[in-house]
Amino acid sequence: MDDNTTEPGDLQCNRREFICSAAVAGAGLMITVPGWAQEQTEVPDKAEELAVGIIGPGSQGKFLLTKALKIPGIRFVAACDVWPYHREITAKLLKKYDQLVNTYEDYREMLDQEKHLDAVIVATPDWVHAEHTNACLRAGKHVYCEKEMSNTIAGARSMVETARETGKLLQIGHQRRSNPRYWHALTLIEKDKILGRVTHAFGQWNRPQLYELGWPQGREVDPETLKRHGYENMDQFRNWRWYRKYSGGPLADLGSHQIDVFNWFLKTTPKAVIGSGGLDYYTEQEGRDWYDNVMTIYEYDTKAGPVRCFYQILNTTSNGGFFETFMGDEGTLVVSEDSRKGYFFREQQAKKREWEDEAEKIETMDRDAIELKIGETLTPEGQKTPEAQRMLELAAKPPHQLHLESFFDAIRNGTPLSCPSELAFEVCVSVLRANEAIDAGDRVEFQPDEFKA
Ligand SMILES: NC(=O)c1ccc[n+]([C@@H]2O[C@H](COP(=O)([O-])OP(=O)(O)OC[C@H]3O[C@@H](n4cnc5c(N)ncnc54)[C@H](O)[C@@H]3O)[C@@H](O)[C@H]2O)c1
Repeated sequence: MDDNTTEPGDLQCNRREFICSAAVAGAGLMITVPGWAQEQTEVPDKAEELAVGIIGPGSQGKFLLTKALKIPGIRFVAACDVWPYHREITAKLLKKYDQLVNTYEDYREMLDQEKHLDAVIVATPDWVHAEHTNACLRAGKHVYCEKEMSNTIAGARSMVETARETGKLLQIGHQRRSNPRYWHALTLIEKDKILGRVTHAFGQWNRPQLYELGWPQGREVDPETLKRHGYENMDQFRNWRWYRKYSGGPLADLGSHQIDVFNWFLKTTPKAVIGSGGLDYYTEQEGRDWYDNVMTIYEYDTKAGPVRCFYQILNTTSNGGFFETFMGDEGTLVVSEDSRKGYFFREQQAKKREWEDEAEKIETMDRDAIELKIGETLTPEGQKTPEAQRMLELAAKPPHQLHLESFFDAIRNGTPLSCPSELAFEVCVSVLRANEAIDAGDRVEFQPDEFKA
């Protein structure tokens, strides 16, 4: 955050100016978040293309590929996956974009053969992130690694240390950190102080009943290959999220994105956590061990005072979907990666701002709320400022693309990463230690040093 953002007094303005001030506030943020905010006016020529590899082009890996392909100057040259089926699909997909890749089963062979790689995207299951990321960093590549950094704190710490030792960049896939909606919300809370003193936060990720992930008939990975890579069978290989060996469970899988937002917006790491969770619904799949529903309470000591944050994941109902809510004595703000969810309630006794009468209202949860609009473009004179226009353009891009742009911009221009490994390490500790609290039925008190790698 820099000082170019608006101060609370600036909010004494009409709706158009309010929107403008919010957009300008966002524009101020661009100076400190250059990864997603800097305009790329020139398409890099072929000689300046970045040669990129991917390890684990499964569901998320392929999604990242499609977003990275929209970024000028990115050329995929290698793809590694233990599953021949995914190697085949990836090569076909990239061929459509005129990008011919060499494919590998083993990342070591890829790194050995593809010395010219500038960067690698790691989108394998969490338990091999540290192995894959550390090997790539040591081979001199910059790495974009998906969250959760690792399913062990030691694994995550080793990644921070290797990035530091090698001097290579390591961006972790908490893409909310590159999302203009979140920067906009943070500006309203932190600079414009629309919530007054923040005392509580709430977050949830509820999704409907889950089905097991399958695989096309006849395209199984052969048992020998599975075994070589640490999986006993296809169920473990496909539904790795449900096994402790491979995953940090729902809190790491989904919660880490949102608990990262708690840490980020509250400007600190938690002081303590308690929780409860159980494998209560999906009891028929033998051998699976992660809980299917979980509720946690994190306690924070912020500069303004104590804040309690409730966070839950339910895998049996989509009620409410996913979002984060910050509550203060003057108002409440709801923000989500789902761009349909974003609004602000003012408490009745809080000072009414002039722009509220003119602001568009939506009725939600029995209240009139002001819609959280990102990057509206009008100046008080009714013109579009370049900064507001830029915000609007950014908000139109998918957050994953912005997050990848942050990574590639950092490689090209030395701009700061929006989610360096040190920040991701803090959330990794926050969620993996919460698992310990749940397992022990106990309260975990964090020591500030735990969050430093
Ligand atoms: N940022 C986000 O919004 C987001 C969303 C979904 C998933 N993710 C993360 O992305 C990662 C992948 O998740 P997914 O849903 O795509 O899983 P997936 O199982 O669909 O994909 C994993 C891929 O890795 C391959 N693989 C497994 N072990 C390997 C090994 N040792 N070497 C090489 N390849 C290997 C698999 O064959 C598969 O293609 C996870 O870390 C997950 O947490 C992030």
